[in-house]
Amino acid sequence: MEIITEKPVAIASDHAGYALKEAVKKHLEEAGVAYADLGTNSTESVDYPVFAAALCKTIQSDNVDLGILICGTGVGMSMAANKHKGIRAACVSDTFSAKATRMHNNANVICFGERVVGQGLAFELVDAFLTTPYEGGRHERRVKLLEDIENSQK
Ligand code: RB5
Repeated sequence: MEIITEKPVAIASDHAGYALKEAVKKHLEEAGVAYADLGTNSTESVDYPVFAAALCKTIQSDNVDLGILICGTGVGMSMAANKHKGIRAACVSDTFSAKATRMHNNANVICFGERVVGQGLAFELVDAFLTTPYEGGRHERRVKLLEDIENSQK
């Protein structure tokens, strides 16, 4: 698979997304995509904001460009991720949105839920997200406005 970054992709989940994370990792391996797994490492109950923070930090430190976050719904992970500077996380459960959020929002994190999407769809979401370039152009101004919101917060 031709992905849009030369860096490894970061992936993390909480306990509710653990099984799907393991399946997505296998899918990435089969597609020849390098990844960094930031946990969790079992189905033992953990707190999703902790794992979202770990993944966002690797993006902020420039070690990776793109990340995948999985929890029960994808919603908690996306809420947590979007609290971090420079992170544009999209919670999606359809491939149209997975592509569009790259093309229009320059999303750098995709989130989805193990309790929402099946494995087959999850793989399609990941493939769409990792292979779709940002379009820039008219979207640049809007993405910049997102940054302005971020920078206006204390
Ligand atoms: C864990 O039970 C669940 O709340 C979490 O994985 C996630 O879905 C939160 O948004």
